[in-house]
Amino acid sequence: MIGVYDSGAGGLSVWRELVRLMPEEDYLYVGDNAFCPYGEKPQEVIQERAEAVSRFLIGKGADVIVIACNTATAAAIDLLRTRYPQMPFVGMEPAIKPAALSSKSGVVGVLATANTLRAEKYHNTLERFASGVKVIERVGEGLVEAVENGTDATPLLKKYLSPMLEAGADAIVLGCTHYPFLEERIKALTGPSVRIVNPAPAVARHTRTVLSALTRNDLPSGRSVFYSTGTADALRRLSSLEIPSLEDGSWHPYLQL
Ligand code: DGL
Repeated sequence: MIGVYDSGAGGLSVWRELVRLMPEEDYLYVGDNAFCPYGEKPQEVIQERAEAVSRFLIGKGADVIVIACNTATAAAIDLLRTRYPQMPFVGMEPAIKPAALSSKSGVVGVLATANTLRAEKYHNTLERFASGVKVIERVGEGLVEAVENGTDATPLLKKYLSPMLEAGADAIVLGCTHYPFLEERIKALTGPSVRIVNPAPAVARHTRTVLSALTRNDLPSGRSVFYSTGTADALRRLSSLEIPSLEDGSWHPYLQL
């Protein structure tokens, strides 16, 4: 079984790519909605939550855990790998490299949470891959909540994308897994000449590679089950957009961790 974890429903943008690539696998998704958003929370809190969720997923028999959250990856993946050395973890990070490589204008925008943008991991990535381009960053304050609640994010997106577009950005990195759910709105604001970079398909392919190296005994049945530490409303709404035939009983709210 593939465990998938996010602060809330954003990780479903990774789950849907995993399901597209490996529909035969079983998925157990945990949205930590009781603690969402993670974007401004202290690192220790995110680490505790990531550990609690990982313990739960390991107890349920996960073969691999996908941390489908840039903020949790930046705050906790190194710690998780130390705590659970037998468990393969796949993480997210803003896709600076493909954006920088494809940019013709030499200007790239990055939209992410405050914690992701201040993390050491992100700064290392910038150093490695963005030396030849100008990077314009914006914290997407309020966007996670807009995705969770299904409210209109356009005014916020206008505010965050304008400085990128004015500076000539021709690639915009979605550095938070909630933002792909806003991709249509983002495209409407940027126009077709700007590339929107979402790393989820690459993360799904990497997960398949990790899985193929493991020996597994159980035959999967192609089922997805969703747990939330809060209400499961956003998980139900966004997962049903992808697979309308999901059975009732797939969503479990108020998981105590
Ligand atoms: N989906 C999370 C990410 O990728 C959102 C973080 C949050 O809860 O603020 O960063």
